[in-house]
Amino acid sequence: MTVLITGGLGFIGSHTVVDLIEQGYDCVILDNLSRTTIDVLEKIELIVQRKIPFMKVNMLESQALRNVFTQYDITSVIHFAGFKSVGESVQNPLVYYQTNLISTLNLIDIMQEFDVKKLVFSSSATVYGDLHIPPLREDLPLKALNPYGRTKLILEEILCDLVSSDNSWSIALMRYFNPIGAHKTGLLGELPFGIPNNLMPHLLKVAIGETSKLQIFGGDYDTEDGSCIRDFIHIMDLASGHVRALDYLKKNAGCEAFNLGTGIGYSVLKLIDTFKEVTGIKVPFEIANRREGDIVVSIADVTKAETLLGWKAKYNLSDMCEDAWNWELNRKRGE
Ligand code: WQD
Repeated sequence: MTVLITGGLGFIGSHTVVDLIEQGYDCVILDNLSRTTIDVLEKIELIVQRKIPFMKVNMLESQALRNVFTQYDITSVIHFAGFKSVGESVQNPLVYYQTNLISTLNLIDIMQEFDVKKLVFSSSATVYGDLHIPPLREDLPLKALNPYGRTKLILEEILCDLVSSDNSWSIALMRYFNPIGAHKTGLLGELPFGIPNNLMPHLLKVAIGETSKLQIFGGDYDTEDGSCIRDFIHIMDLASGHVRALDYLKKNAGCEAFNLGTGIGYSVLKLIDTFKEVTGIKVPFEIANRREGDIVVSIADVTKAETLLGWKAKYNLSDMCEDAWNWELNRKRGE
Protein backbone atom coordinates (compact mmCIF):
# COMPACT_ATOMS: atom_id res chain seq x y z
CA MET A 1 0.00 0.00 0.00
CA THR A 2 2.05 2.97 -1.25
CA VAL A 3 0.29 6.30 -0.77
CA LEU A 4 1.26 9.34 -2.83
CA ILE A 5 0.83 12.54 -0.80
CA THR A 6 0.79 15.61 -3.05
CA GLY A 7 1.69 18.79 -1.14
CA GLY A 8 3.21 16.41 1.40
CA LEU A 9 5.64 19.01 2.79
CA GLY A 10 2.86 21.49 3.58
CA PHE A 11 1.19 22.15 6.93
CA ILE A 12 -1.53 19.47 6.67
CA GLY A 13 0.40 17.19 4.31
CA SER A 14 3.45 16.84 6.55
CA HIS A 15 1.38 15.98 9.63
CA THR A 16 -0.59 13.45 7.59
CA VAL A 17 2.59 11.76 6.29
CA VAL A 18 3.75 11.24 9.89
CA ASP A 19 0.42 9.71 10.89
CA LEU A 20 0.31 7.49 7.75
CA ILE A 21 3.74 6.06 8.48
CA GLU A 22 2.90 5.52 12.14
CA GLN A 23 -0.17 3.56 10.91
CA GLY A 24 2.01 1.36 8.71
CA TYR A 25 1.57 2.94 5.29
CA ASP A 26 4.43 3.40 2.83
CA CYS A 27 4.51 6.96 1.49
CA VAL A 28 5.90 8.92 -1.43
CA ILE A 29 5.89 12.71 -1.00
CA LEU A 30 5.37 15.05 -3.93
CA ASP A 31 5.77 18.81 -3.53
CA ASN A 32 6.81 21.75 -5.74
CA LEU A 33 8.30 23.59 -2.71
CA SER A 34 6.48 26.82 -3.67
CA ARG A 35 4.99 27.27 -0.20
CA THR A 36 7.29 25.17 1.98
CA THR A 37 10.94 24.20 2.43
CA ILE A 38 12.86 20.94 2.00
CA ASP A 39 13.85 20.87 5.67
CA VAL A 40 10.27 19.85 6.47
CA LEU A 41 11.23 16.48 4.90
CA GLU A 42 14.14 16.19 7.33
CA LYS A 43 11.82 16.95 10.27
CA ILE A 44 9.33 14.27 9.13
CA GLU A 45 12.16 11.73 8.77
CA LEU A 46 13.45 12.68 12.22
CA ILE A 47 10.01 12.03 13.75
CA VAL A 48 9.38 8.70 11.99
CA GLN A 49 13.04 7.64 12.04
CA ARG A 50 13.19 6.58 8.40
CA LYS A 51 13.88 8.02 4.95
CA ILE A 52 10.87 8.95 2.83
CA PRO A 53 10.90 9.07 -0.99
CA PHE A 54 10.41 12.66 -2.14
CA MET A 55 9.95 14.07 -5.64
CA LYS A 56 9.94 17.79 -6.48
CA VAL A 57 7.21 17.98 -9.08
CA ASN A 58 5.12 20.75 -10.64
CA MET A 59 1.73 19.09 -11.07
CA LEU A 60 0.98 21.31 -14.05
CA GLU A 61 3.57 19.22 -15.93
CA SER A 62 1.86 15.91 -16.78
CA GLN A 63 5.01 14.05 -17.76
CA ALA A 64 6.72 14.89 -14.47
CA LEU A 65 3.64 13.65 -12.65
CA ARG A 66 3.53 10.49 -14.79
CA ASN A 67 7.14 9.74 -13.89
CA VAL A 68 6.12 9.44 -10.22
CA PHE A 69 3.62 6.70 -11.07
CA THR A 70 6.18 4.98 -13.29
CA GLN A 71 8.83 5.05 -10.58
CA TYR A 72 6.66 3.99 -7.63
CA ASP A 73 3.85 1.44 -7.25
CA ILE A 74 1.26 3.96 -6.10
CA THR A 75 -2.01 2.40 -4.88
CA SER A 76 -3.79 5.52 -3.52
CA VAL A 77 -3.40 9.29 -3.37
CA ILE A 78 -4.02 12.00 -0.79
CA HIS A 79 -4.11 15.27 -2.72
CA PHE A 80 -3.21 18.38 -0.68
CA ALA A 81 -1.24 20.33 -3.30
CA GLY A 82 -2.86 23.66 -4.10
CA PHE A 83 -3.16 27.27 -2.98
CA LYS A 84 -5.40 27.99 0.01
CA SER A 85 -5.59 31.71 0.76
CA VAL A 86 -9.01 33.31 0.39
CA GLY A 87 -7.57 36.82 0.17
CA GLU A 88 -4.89 35.88 -2.36
CA SER A 89 -7.49 34.10 -4.49
CA VAL A 90 -9.55 37.30 -4.76
CA GLN A 91 -6.46 39.20 -5.95
CA ASN A 92 -5.21 36.46 -8.33
CA PRO A 93 -8.20 34.30 -9.33
CA LEU A 94 -6.62 32.93 -12.53
CA VAL A 95 -3.57 31.67 -10.64
CA TYR A 96 -5.95 29.84 -8.27
CA TYR A 97 -8.07 28.33 -11.06
CA GLN A 98 -5.02 27.21 -13.01
CA THR A 99 -3.09 25.83 -10.03
CA ASN A 100 -5.93 24.16 -8.15
CA LEU A 101 -8.02 22.94 -11.08
CA ILE A 102 -5.47 21.93 -13.72
CA SER A 103 -3.12 20.18 -11.29
CA THR A 104 -6.03 18.11 -9.98
CA LEU A 105 -7.27 17.26 -13.49
CA ASN A 106 -3.73 16.18 -14.43
CA LEU A 107 -3.60 14.00 -11.33
CA ILE A 108 -6.93 12.29 -12.04
CA ASP A 109 -5.91 11.65 -15.65
CA ILE A 110 -2.71 9.92 -14.62
CA MET A 111 -4.36 8.00 -11.80
CA GLN A 112 -6.82 6.69 -14.42
CA GLU A 113 -3.92 5.77 -16.74
CA PHE A 114 -2.27 3.70 -13.98
CA ASP A 115 -5.57 2.32 -12.69
CA VAL A 116 -5.13 4.00 -9.28
CA LYS A 117 -8.69 4.73 -8.14
CA LYS A 118 -8.50 5.67 -4.44
CA LEU A 119 -8.32 9.41 -3.76
CA VAL A 120 -8.60 11.51 -0.59
CA PHE A 121 -9.17 15.11 -1.67
CA SER A 122 -8.36 18.22 0.37
CA SER A 123 -11.54 20.31 0.33
CA SER A 124 -12.74 22.96 2.78
CA ALA A 125 -15.66 24.12 4.92
CA THR A 126 -15.63 27.21 2.76
CA VAL A 127 -17.88 25.31 0.31
CA TYR A 128 -20.79 25.80 2.73
CA GLY A 129 -20.70 29.53 2.09
CA ASP A 130 -23.04 31.66 4.20
CA LEU A 131 -26.18 29.68 3.48
CA HIS A 132 -26.78 27.82 6.71
CA ILE A 133 -27.14 27.99 10.47
CA PRO A 134 -24.49 25.69 12.02
CA PRO A 135 -23.80 22.89 12.76
CA LEU A 136 -23.05 22.26 9.09
CA ARG A 137 -23.91 18.82 7.63
CA GLU A 138 -22.33 17.35 4.53
CA ASP A 139 -25.68 17.01 2.67
CA LEU A 140 -26.47 20.74 2.79
CA PRO A 141 -26.58 22.83 -0.41
CA LEU A 142 -23.18 24.34 -1.20
CA LYS A 143 -22.09 27.83 -2.23
CA ALA A 144 -18.65 29.34 -2.73
CA LEU A 145 -18.03 32.99 -1.84
CA ASN A 146 -14.55 33.49 -3.34
CA PRO A 147 -12.30 32.04 -6.07
CA TYR A 148 -10.50 29.76 -3.58
CA GLY A 149 -13.81 28.32 -2.40
CA ARG A 150 -15.01 28.02 -5.99
CA THR A 151 -11.99 25.88 -6.92
CA LYS A 152 -12.85 23.52 -4.07
CA LEU A 153 -16.54 23.40 -4.99
CA ILE A 154 -15.84 22.83 -8.71
CA LEU A 155 -13.36 20.05 -7.91
CA GLU A 156 -15.82 18.35 -5.56
CA GLU A 157 -18.36 18.33 -8.38
CA ILE A 158 -15.82 17.05 -10.93
CA LEU A 159 -14.83 14.20 -8.62
CA CYS A 160 -18.43 13.24 -7.94
CA ASP A 161 -19.17 13.29 -11.71
CA LEU A 162 -16.14 11.03 -12.23
CA VAL A 163 -17.48 8.52 -9.71
CA SER A 164 -20.94 8.65 -11.32
CA SER A 165 -19.35 7.78 -14.66
CA ASP A 166 -17.05 5.08 -13.27
CA ASN A 167 -18.01 3.37 -9.99
CA SER A 168 -14.59 1.75 -9.65
CA TRP A 169 -13.40 5.02 -8.07
CA SER A 170 -13.36 5.55 -4.29
CA ILE A 171 -13.13 9.23 -3.37
CA ALA A 172 -13.33 11.05 0.00
CA LEU A 173 -13.82 14.83 0.04
CA MET A 174 -12.40 16.20 3.29
CA ARG A 175 -13.96 19.53 4.38
CA TYR A 176 -11.64 21.20 6.87
CA PHE A 177 -12.88 23.68 9.40
CA ASN A 178 -10.12 25.75 11.04
CA PRO A 179 -6.89 23.77 11.45
CA ILE A 180 -4.45 25.21 14.03
CA GLY A 181 -1.76 23.85 16.35
CA ALA A 182 1.39 21.89 15.50
CA HIS A 183 2.98 18.48 15.94
CA LYS A 184 3.49 17.43 19.57
CA THR A 185 7.25 17.16 18.99
CA GLY A 186 7.43 20.85 18.03
CA LEU A 187 9.24 19.84 14.83
CA LEU A 188 6.34 20.47 12.44
CA GLY A 189 3.86 23.34 12.21
CA GLU A 190 2.44 26.06 9.99
CA LEU A 191 5.13 27.93 8.07
CA PRO A 192 4.08 31.58 7.68
CA PHE A 193 4.99 31.83 4.01
CA GLY A 194 4.11 35.23 2.57
CA ILE A 195 1.55 37.25 4.47
CA PRO A 196 -0.38 34.77 6.62
CA ASN A 197 -4.11 35.30 6.23
CA ASN A 198 -5.28 33.09 9.03
CA LEU A 199 -5.85 33.99 12.65
CA MET A 200 -3.34 31.74 14.43
CA PRO A 201 -0.25 32.72 12.36
CA HIS A 202 -1.11 36.38 12.99
CA LEU A 203 -1.65 35.72 16.72
CA LEU A 204 1.70 33.93 16.98
CA LYS A 205 3.54 36.78 15.22
CA VAL A 206 2.21 39.18 17.89
CA ALA A 207 2.95 36.74 20.73
CA ILE A 208 6.57 36.26 19.54
CA GLY A 209 7.01 40.04 19.24
CA GLU A 210 7.29 40.30 15.45
CA THR A 211 4.18 42.49 15.15
CA SER A 212 2.79 44.82 17.75
CA LYS A 213 -0.94 44.14 17.81
CA LEU A 214 -3.47 41.60 16.55
CA GLN A 215 -6.31 43.04 14.48
CA ILE A 216 -9.67 41.49 15.33
CA PHE A 217 -11.83 41.81 12.24
CA GLY A 218 -15.13 42.84 13.76
CA GLY A 219 -16.29 43.04 17.35
CA ASP A 220 -19.98 43.76 16.79
CA TYR A 221 -21.26 40.46 15.43
CA ASP A 222 -24.36 38.88 16.97
CA THR A 223 -22.30 36.47 19.14
CA GLU A 224 -21.59 36.18 22.88
CA ASP A 225 -18.62 38.56 22.74
CA GLY A 226 -19.13 40.21 19.33
CA SER A 227 -16.32 38.30 17.57
CA CYS A 228 -16.77 35.52 14.99
CA ILE A 229 -17.02 31.88 16.01
CA ARG A 230 -14.99 29.08 14.44
CA ASP A 231 -14.58 25.31 14.79
CA PHE A 232 -10.84 25.14 15.50
CA ILE A 233 -9.36 21.66 15.04
CA HIS A 234 -5.89 20.42 16.04
CA ILE A 235 -3.73 19.72 12.98
CA MET A 236 -2.91 16.25 14.36
CA ASP A 237 -6.64 15.45 14.53
CA LEU A 238 -7.01 16.71 10.98
CA ALA A 239 -4.16 14.44 9.89
CA SER A 240 -5.64 11.34 11.51
CA GLY A 241 -8.98 12.08 9.82
CA HIS A 242 -7.24 11.64 6.45
CA VAL A 243 -5.75 8.31 7.46
CA ARG A 244 -9.15 7.05 8.58
CA ALA A 245 -10.62 8.21 5.27
CA LEU A 246 -7.96 6.22 3.40
CA ASP A 247 -8.83 3.15 5.50
CA TYR A 248 -12.50 3.73 4.61
CA LEU A 249 -11.73 3.85 0.86
CA LYS A 250 -10.19 0.38 1.02
CA LYS A 251 -13.68 -1.02 1.58
CA ASN A 252 -15.98 1.58 0.01
CA ALA A 253 -16.40 2.82 -3.55
CA GLY A 254 -18.27 6.05 -4.33
CA CYS A 255 -17.77 9.75 -3.54
CA GLU A 256 -18.35 10.87 0.07
CA ALA A 257 -17.80 14.25 1.76
CA PHE A 258 -16.64 14.36 5.40
CA ASN A 259 -16.42 17.32 7.79
CA LEU A 260 -13.21 17.46 9.81
CA GLY A 261 -13.92 19.61 12.83
CA THR A 262 -14.58 19.19 16.55
CA GLY A 263 -18.27 20.18 16.49
CA ILE A 264 -17.44 22.86 19.08
CA GLY A 265 -17.28 26.59 18.25
CA TYR A 266 -15.05 29.11 20.00
CA SER A 267 -14.96 32.85 19.38
CA VAL A 268 -11.85 34.67 18.21
CA LEU A 269 -11.64 36.42 21.59
CA LYS A 270 -12.02 33.08 23.40
CA LEU A 271 -9.04 31.75 21.45
CA ILE A 272 -6.99 34.74 22.61
CA ASP A 273 -8.08 34.12 26.22
CA THR A 274 -7.21 30.42 25.98
CA PHE A 275 -3.79 31.27 24.52
CA LYS A 276 -3.15 33.46 27.58
CA GLU A 277 -4.33 30.76 30.01
CA VAL A 278 -1.98 28.23 28.39
CA THR A 279 1.10 30.36 27.70
CA GLY A 280 0.75 33.29 30.12
CA ILE A 281 1.02 35.65 27.15
CA LYS A 282 -1.67 38.32 26.85
CA VAL A 283 -1.75 39.06 23.13
CA PRO A 284 -2.46 42.79 22.56
CA PHE A 285 -5.27 43.34 20.07
CA GLU A 286 -7.55 46.00 18.68
CA ILE A 287 -10.99 45.67 17.18
CA ALA A 288 -10.79 46.58 13.48
CA ASN A 289 -13.41 46.67 10.75
CA ARG A 290 -15.14 43.49 9.70
CA ARG A 291 -13.32 41.48 6.97
CA GLU A 292 -15.19 41.21 3.66
CA GLY A 293 -16.56 37.69 3.13
CA ASP A 294 -16.28 36.50 6.73
CA ILE A 295 -19.14 34.36 7.97
CA VAL A 296 -20.20 34.85 11.58
CA VAL A 297 -20.36 31.26 12.84
CA SER A 298 -18.76 28.14 11.31
CA ILE A 299 -19.17 24.88 13.26
CA ALA A 300 -19.11 21.32 11.89
CA ASP A 301 -21.62 18.55 12.35
CA VAL A 302 -19.13 15.71 12.85
CA THR A 303 -21.60 12.81 12.99
CA LYS A 304 -20.70 11.39 9.58
CA ALA A 305 -16.95 11.14 10.18
CA GLU A 306 -17.63 9.61 13.59
CA THR A 307 -20.01 6.96 12.28
CA LEU A 308 -18.46 6.10 8.90
CA LEU A 309 -14.78 6.71 9.64
CA GLY A 310 -14.77 5.89 13.34
CA TRP A 311 -12.91 9.22 13.76
CA LYS A 312 -13.36 11.90 16.40
CA ALA A 313 -11.10 14.87 17.25
CA LYS A 314 -9.36 14.27 20.56
CA TYR A 315 -7.39 17.48 21.23
CA ASN A 316 -8.94 20.57 22.81
CA LEU A 317 -8.38 24.30 22.35
CA SER A 318 -5.72 24.41 25.08
CA ASP A 319 -3.75 21.65 23.31
CA MET A 320 -3.97 23.62 20.07
CA CYS A 321 -2.64 26.80 21.72
CA GLU A 322 0.11 24.97 23.63
CA ASP A 323 1.38 23.09 20.57
CA ALA A 324 1.17 26.14 18.29
CA TRP A 325 3.23 28.18 20.78
CA ASN A 326 5.77 25.38 21.27
CA TRP A 327 6.25 25.21 17.49
CA GLU A 328 6.62 29.01 17.22
CA LEU A 329 9.30 29.03 19.95
CA ASN A 330 11.19 26.16 18.27
CA ARG A 331 10.93 27.83 14.86
CA LYS A 332 12.25 31.11 16.27
CA ARG A 333 15.16 29.32 17.98
CA GLY A 334 16.00 27.59 14.70
CA GLU A 335 16.11 30.82 12.66
C1 WQD B 1 -10.88 33.07 11.33
C2 WQD B 1 -11.51 34.21 12.09
C3 WQD B 1 -11.43 36.31 10.92
C4 WQD B 1 -7.12 36.90 11.07
C5 WQD B 1 -10.19 30.25 6.11
C6 WQD B 1 -10.66 29.60 4.85
C7 WQD B 1 -10.93 28.14 5.11
C8 WQD B 1 -9.70 27.51 5.72
C9 WQD B 1 -9.28 28.24 6.98
C10 WQD B 1 -8.46 26.47 3.96
C11 WQD B 1 -12.34 35.14 11.19
C12 WQD B 1 -10.63 36.36 12.23
C13 WQD B 1 -8.40 36.36 11.20
C14 WQD B 1 -6.78 38.06 11.81
C15 WQD B 1 -8.97 38.08 12.77
N1 WQD B 1 -8.63 27.50 4.79
N2 WQD B 1 -9.28 36.94 12.05
N3 WQD B 1 -7.71 38.60 12.64
O1 WQD B 1 -11.58 32.70 7.29
O2 WQD B 1 -12.45 31.07 9.05
O3 WQD B 1 -11.20 30.21 7.08
O4 WQD B 1 -9.05 29.60 6.60
O5 WQD B 1 -9.03 25.44 3.89
O6 WQD B 1 -11.24 27.54 3.88
O7 WQD B 1 -11.89 30.20 4.47
O8 WQD B 1 -9.99 31.47 8.83
O9 WQD B 1 -8.17 32.19 10.31
O10 WQD B 1 -8.67 33.57 8.25
O11 WQD B 1 -10.24 33.62 10.18
O12 WQD B 1 -9.79 38.60 13.53
O13 WQD B 1 -5.64 38.60 11.73
O14 WQD B 1 -10.47 35.02 12.63
O15 WQD B 1 -12.14 37.52 10.73
O16 WQD B 1 -13.47 35.58 11.92
P1 WQD B 1 -11.41 31.46 8.07
P2 WQD B 1 -9.17 32.74 9.36
